[in-house]
Amino acid sequence: MSYRAVPLISLLKIPPNAPFDTLEARATDGFVSQIPLGLVRRGGEGGSKAWIAIEDPAKPWPNLPGKDVSAVPFYLIWEHPERSGIGSEQWPFALASLEGLKPPAERWPQMAVAADAPVGAPARRGQEVYTVQCLSCHRMNGAGESDMGPDLGDPMNPTQYLTPAGLRMLVRNPKSVRTWPDQKMPGFDKTMISESDVDALIAYLTYMARDKTPSPN
Ligand code: HEC
Repeated sequence: MSYRAVPLISLLKIPPNAPFDTLEARATDGFVSQIPLGLVRRGGEGGSKAWIAIEDPAKPWPNLPGKDVSAVPFYLIWEHPERSGIGSEQWPFALASLEGLKPPAERWPQMAVAADAPVGAPARRGQEVYTVQCLSCHRMNGAGESDMGPDLGDPMNPTQYLTPAGLRMLVRNPKSVRTWPDQKMPGFDKTMISESDVDALIAYLTYMARDKTPSPN
């Protein structure tokens, strides 16, 4: 794919004392990624470096694999993604806007693990994993901006109707649980979400369901 690219950090010109620490990246298809500003800043200090890729009009971008659209107008890409552990959901294509905001858990306290939960509680780590890998498509109890997939807290939380083993398989490969032509959710292999992070994710979802009683209404 032929493209021209601009370093994201120089494009944004963010002052050191900016009143926000998250970049909300919206794509034209409804995908909304929450990118910590620290990750973008670390690009200048030996970490993964974020670039905004722009189509070369002489060589239009091909359609994305399995999709009938290309990545236009902009594609946020990372150089050396492994250096900062950049997740697959932090590469928004068809990027339409970037906005500086407070972190999701501050904007939407209903998705945050309570302050009195133990410091090392797996649910805390799970909240981070959810924010990076799932919130881009799934709200949590209304928290979030995307409607690509269903809210995973409301009305029911998947831990209320899927076993931990089934949920793990769904995260790894949704087609191993159910399959139909229009299925959209990508699978996450062990390089994308480690086994212990899937455990943490399930602990987080279980925690979020703690006050919920199934009800048909
Ligand atoms: C790129 C968007 C996207 C991402 C990222 C994503 N999902 Fe999904 N997910 C979907 C869509 C869309 C569906 C609806 C089924 C389908 O089309 O695959 C879905 C369905 C689900 C379901 C089934 C809900 C039900 O009862 O029907 C669960 C559980 C789920 N996702 C969990 C997760 C978790 C946990 C993560 C993060 C690790 C995640 N998803 C990341 C798009 C996504």
